[in-house]
Amino acid sequence: MQQAQEFWDGVFQTRGNDANRLVDVPDPKNPVYMRALQHFGDVRGKTLVDLGCGAGASSLFFASMGANVVSIDLSSMAIDNLKRYCAQQGIDNISARVLSAQDIGLIEPADFVFGAMILHHIEPFSQFAASLRKAIKPGGRAFFWENNATSNTMMWFRNHVIGKLWIPKHGDPDESPLAPYEVDHLRKHFSVTTEYPEMVFALMASRYLLRGRLDGHAVKVDKFLYRYPPIRKYSYRQFVCLK
Ligand SMILES: C[S@@+](CC[C@H](N)C(=O)[O-])C[C@H]1O[C@@H](n2cnc3c(N)ncnc32)[C@H](O)[C@@H]1O
Repeated sequence: MQQAQEFWDGVFQTRGNDANRLVDVPDPKNPVYMRALQHFGDVRGKTLVDLGCGAGASSLFFASMGANVVSIDLSSMAIDNLKRYCAQQGIDNISARVLSAQDIGLIEPADFVFGAMILHHIEPFSQFAASLRKAIKPGGRAFFWENNATSNTMMWFRNHVIGKLWIPKHGDPDESPLAPYEVDHLRKHFSVTTEYPEMVFALMASRYLLRGRLDGHAVKVDKFLYRYPPIRKYSYRQFVCLK
């Protein structure tokens, strides 16, 4: 946990004091946000936790939609940056705090929980799933945009090839793509549906093994694969919708 905290503090520290770089400004047409809003319904005046808020784009988006956002992150640098930006911009419907996702059960229960690329950082996951239940009001919902460990082939490459030779490893030392058994832990507490909004498979091979040289072709291969619904569950991207 401490290693992850140091890793992410290092990432967010580089943003310095430049007001334009303190946070990421959200793209209001981002399809992840569109699908999340569809799942939540009207967020105006509702409490929404942005779990693992990082550079704050999602928090800023949901705040702009009228939600009262509680932004949580392990990195004090990320939280300081977001707080400073909100103070500068007069945004008063975001409260940000340093907290491990594992402790989400300690906060006041919220109407909604949103997370982008956070679940795969959380261990032990069964404990988190139970805490998440406590963090959501009865009738509330959660939505996560995540990576996906369903493909054994992709996971073999991740475990045996990435980070070796010329192939870079990104991300913190503790993270591991969200596995189907972890989604099953969520199913013990929620009604869960998973969706695959796009195919990201060949693209990963091009990015990691070929330094992006065949990205254009890889995207075409992925679009072709996406035509076949039974294959979609192997995409590296998924939406996890909870109610
Ligand atoms: C991949 S980044 C995603 C950030 C943001 N959600 C986005 O989409 O840009 C992961 C974020 O989760 C935070 N994080 C990692 N482990 C965490 C944990 N156990 N509890 C809370 N935040 C964590 C990191 O500090 C980082 O900001």
